[in-house]
Amino acid sequence: MGPEMKISERLLYRLVRLFYRTEVAHSPEMKQALQDIESFDAYRGAEIARILEACDRYDIPIAGRRVLDFGCNDGAISPKYLQRGALSVVGVDVDEEAIGRAQANRRDDGLSFVKSNVDGVPLEDESIDTIVSYDVFEHVSEPKAILSELRRILAPSGQILIGTWSWRHPFAPHLWAVMPVPWAHMFFSERTILRVCRRVYHSPWYVPNMHDFDANGERLADKYTNDMISTDYLNKYLIVDFEATFESVGFDCQTHCVPFGSKYARWTGFLLRAPWVREFLSGYVWFVLSKPKADKGLNGNGDAVASGNALR
Ligand SMILES: C[S@@+](CC[C@H](N)C(=O)[O-])C[C@H]1O[C@@H](n2cnc3c(N)ncnc32)[C@H](O)[C@@H]1O
Repeated sequence: MGPEMKISERLLYRLVRLFYRTEVAHSPEMKQALQDIESFDAYRGAEIARILEACDRYDIPIAGRRVLDFGCNDGAISPKYLQRGALSVVGVDVDEEAIGRAQANRRDDGLSFVKSNVDGVPLEDESIDTIVSYDVFEHVSEPKAILSELRRILAPSGQILIGTWSWRHPFAPHLWAVMPVPWAHMFFSERTILRVCRRVYHSPWYVPNMHDFDANGERLADKYTNDMISTDYLNKYLIVDFEATFESVGFDCQTHCVPFGSKYARWTGFLLRAPWVREFLSGYVWFVLSKPKADKGLNGNGDAVASGNALR
């Protein structure tokens, strides 16, 4: 550590060294998955079991449905819905390169991939029965606009399953590899966190993962050079923010907070009924959205308004 580090940075750096040796932030499976793109793809593909379990638990039908995989990236998960009996699956993502890889590598009948925009999804009205979005919504920079789009695309009896995290999650900043200290972003400024991340990245004891290399296999010279985590990358929403946005767009919403699966925190499940505590202690959050039976419709701002029928 150089003498120019502030006290807060020295403290956080020491905490990183302490947690780095543990499995608090990264399980051994996750560490293994991060070694190369094939291992990572296989790991993401295997995540389907977790999603399908959630579909079963919350009564989200896949078989016989027109399914949208919202935020599919390069489509590692999308074909699995076909194997579950979906009528068709369309994967959409804002990442043009990822959509290109999906289109090139995944060519099953009934499977297609479309590039979307940060505030728009180029699909027909009411053309989808089930929308699944896994590990995406914490990244969506225009949640209200996107949710209005998903509402437009969804058939009247359709359902949406969104799996995401609160910004109060212990590792919400998505910096696990270099910042394995839970809730660091609650106790230290983003500037301090990112300066320490940079220091960790250059430390001799840090083991690089696939995200630390460019397409030619060269180690990226520098990372974490900003002072803030961009809201283009993470919207920093809490569970209550998501719920308020779902309601404003006119969805009925059920929230299911799942405790951590780790041996350190399994016991926390019973605390998740408390609104404030659930923000900190939910390992994952599933939202189930549907259109209200007496549909409300939207006004010009995308806000829900009660229709004549709904009032009667
Ligand atoms: C962590 S990846 C998850 C990918 C995939 N769901 C999976 O589990 O393998 C998040 C993805 O969300 C996409 N994303 C972020 N904002 C989006 C938006 N507004 N519309 C569509 N995709 C978006 C990103 O491009 C990225 O591919």
